[in-house]
Amino acid sequence: MYLEELFSLKGKVALVTGAGRGIGQVVALGLAKAGAAVAIFSRTGAAQTAKQIEAIGGKAYDLIVDVTQEDQVDRGIAEVLRLAGSLDIVFNNAGVCLHKDTLDATIAEWKEVIDINLTGEYIVARAAARAMIAQGIKGSIINMASMSGTVANIPQWQASYNASKAGVIHLTRSLALEWAPHGIRVNSLSPGYINTPMSVDTPQDLKDAWLPLIPQHRFGEPEELMPAVLYLASPWAGYTTGADVIVDGGYTAF
Ligand SMILES: NC(=O)c1ccc[n+]([C@@H]2O[C@H](COP(=O)([O-])OP(=O)(O)OC[C@H]3O[C@@H](n4cnc5c(N)ncnc54)[C@H](O)[C@@H]3O)[C@@H](O)[C@H]2O)c1
Repeated sequence: MYLEELFSLKGKVALVTGAGRGIGQVVALGLAKAGAAVAIFSRTGAAQTAKQIEAIGGKAYDLIVDVTQEDQVDRGIAEVLRLAGSLDIVFNNAGVCLHKDTLDATIAEWKEVIDINLTGEYIVARAAARAMIAQGIKGSIINMASMSGTVANIPQWQASYNASKAGVIHLTRSLALEWAPHGIRVNSLSPGYINTPMSVDTPQDLKDAWLPLIPQHRFGEPEELMPAVLYLASPWAGYTTGADVIVDGGYTAF
């Protein structure tokens, strides 16, 4: 009962970007389990995620939106408001990673990572905040950062990714200050290495190199991010804004 009081999202509407697979898919389902209606933005449709949510009796709105396209995001947010009537929580998750030496990477590759990971989150957060302010909603925006926004990972070279995630952490602080007068909270989540298609696609020799660097000597599961997401989403976290919550098995502790 007490936990229900603290963390229930019944009657809330959540938006999750990049929810067709990986962390976004797990968090979309987790938010639905906590009682929220969940809108999904993905580039190709996320029928499987929507089906999972409906299978537990939840409500899902599957919308095709590329987060780098401002007009698509604006239309998507308007559609969420039309279909679901509100927007209370945003899990701003869509992202990509590029492992490539900086001396070999092209500017087009740099721009693509920054465009999706940083500008995409900016576009979604801004459109969501405009909608929240217009409706007087004291919402919660959770930006997906990474431990790579705090430390530069080794042995792979991923300068564009690291810079994009450091940008997300500072964007989060900036938006938290800017939107505090409206009662909108903005926080970021910084996972360590998590078992998702993004990391499953990673060559085995690289994963073997990562394991000894993780104090817990294992990768995290997407479900292990859910308690932090629920905390940040809950109105009871009303005094938490501008924070970066690190869930990394201890990686950044040394
Ligand atoms: N897996 C990890 O170890 C890890 C660690 C820290 C942070 N993260 C971050 O978590 C987020 C999710 O990662 P994941 O591991 O689930 O990756 P993933 O590749 O499995 O999922 C990312 C999703 O984002 C979508 N996406 C990419 N560009 C998009 C765009 N322009 N518009 C809409 N959707 C788009 C992809 O289609 C995909 O469904 C990313 O921001 C990533 O940087 C992941």
